[in-house]
Amino acid sequence: MTTDFLVIGAGIAGLSFALKAAKHGSVTVLAKGKLMESNTAWAQGGIAAVLPEEEREAGDTVEDHVRDTLDAGAGLCNEAAVRLIVEGADETIDDLIAHGVHFDRSGDHFQLGKEGGHSHRRILHSRDTTGREIARALIGAARNTPNITLLEDRVAIELITSSKLGSLTDDRVLGAYVLDAESGEVEVFRSDRVILATGGCGKVYLYTTNPDSATGDGVALAWRAGAAIANMEFIQFHPTCFYNPGATGPEARSFLVSEAVRGEGGILVNAKGEEFTKKIDPRGSLAPRDIVARAIDREIKRTGAPCVYLDVTHKPPGFMRERFPFIYETLLKFGLDCEKQRIPVVPAAHYQCGGVSTDVDGKTTLKGLFAIGEVACTGLHGANRLASNSLLEGNVMARRALDGMIRSYGPGKADSTPPPIPEWEHGDVAEPDELVVIYHNWDEIRRLMWDYVSIVRTDNRLRRAAARLRNLKKEVREFYWGHRVNVDILELRNLVAVASLVVECAIRRKESRGLHFTLDHPTADQASCRDTVIRKF
Ligand code: SIN
Repeated sequence: MTTDFLVIGAGIAGLSFALKAAKHGSVTVLAKGKLMESNTAWAQGGIAAVLPEEEREAGDTVEDHVRDTLDAGAGLCNEAAVRLIVEGADETIDDLIAHGVHFDRSGDHFQLGKEGGHSHRRILHSRDTTGREIARALIGAARNTPNITLLEDRVAIELITSSKLGSLTDDRVLGAYVLDAESGEVEVFRSDRVILATGGCGKVYLYTTNPDSATGDGVALAWRAGAAIANMEFIQFHPTCFYNPGATGPEARSFLVSEAVRGEGGILVNAKGEEFTKKIDPRGSLAPRDIVARAIDREIKRTGAPCVYLDVTHKPPGFMRERFPFIYETLLKFGLDCEKQRIPVVPAAHYQCGGVSTDVDGKTTLKGLFAIGEVACTGLHGANRLASNSLLEGNVMARRALDGMIRSYGPGKADSTPPPIPEWEHGDVAEPDELVVIYHNWDEIRRLMWDYVSIVRTDNRLRRAAARLRNLKKEVREFYWGHRVNVDILELRNLVAVASLVVECAIRRKESRGLHFTLDHPTADQASCRDTVIRKF
């Protein structure tokens, strides 16, 4: 199949891009699972935006949003990217509304929520299922756009580049080999403009707020194709994942309790009811996430308790039911009435602040390859993402990437004389009969990342993780080359690649900054204040 724009990923970034690009040519969007299974669809909190003066909180300015983002990013943001993205918020909200997104209002005005690190109320939301509302509207709009082909259950195996086909000059992307998870067949998608919008890599960790699809596919694909990767040491841990030790299903284990709950007065306390975060930062429960997650980690280790608590029992009866109906109902399903009982919570892996290195137009270091949304490292987040900046980034960067592409390549069709691309060869391989090998390695990666490479790190633990991952990579490589590809093998191969990149970046950073905290180098070092950029070749 040949397409003008090949979009891998169907969250806010991928769909926003597709809806714009469809005016310029044919667009194929590949969703890894079903369309509503993206990370976007799981987002609860909302989208940060400083609106025109009559709509914003009194005193708030775009400059304040820029400053809050830079503060959270702990010195590592690219200020130009921060400004472009924050300034694009107004257009983003108009764009989403034009596609049918409904944001909550009180009378004539938007309701604005607050989250950690924001100096003002500026989070637009749709109750506590903002992501689901955005996904619903964008999927609907894309379905009604004739130039867009939406394909579900498609897992990208490998990007096709001219160098992989033997060219020694002018390396560029030519398309992708993609597994149809339903039929088991591998298809070739030809396109000289490939847009990675695959989301993050939360599943690299044992505990995560992310859906099962978040296996770092985009970073792994780009890395294997030779694109530069940056800042993977900065994995954000969300402070308040529901602690539910008896849980069995993924929903029960990964259930996020939105930071917006703290924005509306929820307080983090220990088992004795003490507000321990206040001892660490005067902003207490609403300090930026890196600070709050570390405070919880410290409290759990200090007291030996398995969790801390988010307390909203002081809010008026009915408040949680009305403002956070999804959280209220879900917790009730798990046997907890949060209007009467404190919510047990623990930190869990939530967001990948680094990723495929791009410029402010989503361009990667590989010609024809673009990355937008969580998979990309634009410089917006620096060493720690400000809450609710990511849906904004996904939409703004979709616009910028398309404009940049049109500027670089013109509005025309994809290359009319592409080099011939061979069909995928399964080769003389076996059907994967020992699934236990896959599951064992999968569990081992996630457990070792949690134990050795999570909120608090040390040189020694990172070295152990690197050594173990080297062996796992070798085993996974042998398994991959010896067996017919399926989704489990592909995800495992990506997980081990991305875990190794996180560890490699963490080893290189000899300081503590933002989300990367190591006991061996516990302070920030101005001389180390730069991006960690790595390339395969
Ligand atoms: C949340 O609702 O707490 C998540 C918001 C975000 O990660 O930006």
